[in-house]
Amino acid sequence: HIIPVIMSGGSGSRLWPQSRAQYPKQFLPLVNERTMLQNTIVRLDGLTGTAKPLLIANEDHRFLVAEQLRQLGREAEAIILEPVGRNTAPAVALAALKALASGHEESVLLVLAADHVIQNEEAFHRAVEAAMPAARDGKLVTFGIVPSHPETGYGYIKSRRTSEGSLSPLPVEQFVEKPDSATAEQYLASGDYFWNSGMFMFKASRFLEELKQFRRDILSACEQAIAVEHPDMDFVRLNEAAFKACPDDSIDYAVMEKTQDAVVIPLDAGWSDVGSWSSLWDIADKDAQGNAVQGDAMLHDTRNTYVRSEKKLIATVGVEDLVITESDDAILVASKSRVQDVKKIVERIKAEG
Ligand code: GDD
Ligand code: MG
Repeated sequence: HIIPVIMSGGSGSRLWPQSRAQYPKQFLPLVNERTMLQNTIVRLDGLTGTAKPLLIANEDHRFLVAEQLRQLGREAEAIILEPVGRNTAPAVALAALKALASGHEESVLLVLAADHVIQNEEAFHRAVEAAMPAARDGKLVTFGIVPSHPETGYGYIKSRRTSEGSLSPLPVEQFVEKPDSATAEQYLASGDYFWNSGMFMFKASRFLEELKQFRRDILSACEQAIAVEHPDMDFVRLNEAAFKACPDDSIDYAVMEKTQDAVVIPLDAGWSDVGSWSSLWDIADKDAQGNAVQGDAMLHDTRNTYVRSEKKLIATVGVEDLVITESDDAILVASKSRVQDVKKIVERIKAEG
């Protein structure tokens, strides 16, 4: 069967001030009444042969994770708690080791981010079902999105693009994580690349083999970190010193760029990565002037603007292409084309205290 692995340890700093270190975006209701993590779990309903999810998050968020599961009336297979973030390669390694230790040798892991929007769940299920035989066969399956702009925050997957609607796995010729903007432009123009959706499917043992080949250091650190389990409800705690010693790297750089055994399944399911305020504007319902509003706002002569208020009335006059969001103790006003740099503010707050 399929074991969903939900990576929920990111910090979401580009969605400040709503997303905070203590309360990052995956735990917020950004697009509907459920949180992003809850949507990720509920999205699996109806996918046949799916076991309870394996969650992996930062220790600081253990009560948030537990509470959000409780609200849904769901259980996890386990919740692995990281004492520090070491990015996604170690997170997936820990999940794979845990799945094997729990006797799921024959299962396939469906690795998911906790912060994606997928509008067409049926299409997502069909893609996952189409990935199953390849994953069982030892492939590392990625899900590819036809790109719409030269985004530099994504991975790019080179493959022979086939006819629309086909769900056959295609061999990956090249995987390039987060290219610079000139390269991204070139990939977009060539028509030979997909975006990497950031979801993966493979057997736990196959992933660990590849990790052993390319990043033995990460694998051994994770093996040591998970060797000492301190069971505490569903929580799996790690050996802190061993995990702190683990190198920091993403699955994309550590494994996907290097493996010869990846395939890509085209995914046309209204996928989006809610990475920044402008991506929330992209997917939101907009008025005739292109404004998307959450909460209390009054807009006059305003265009293509994203406004999100929690308590106060936000009023705008004669502006365009802005993001304005208000939270308890902070207000952000940003040019919509510069929202990637919101994380610079977060870095400054951290540094300046
Ligand atoms: N447990 C855990 N620990 N989870 C983590 C950690 C960590 O240290 N770091 C990140 N995550 C989680 C995030 O919460 C998110 O759900 C997921 O892993 C992906 O991490 P991001 O940090 O959001 O990655 P990205 O968006 O920069 O890039 C990835 O996703 C893109 C598509 O959204 C890559 O896979 C790209 O290639 C891809 O295009
Ligand atoms: Mg992301």
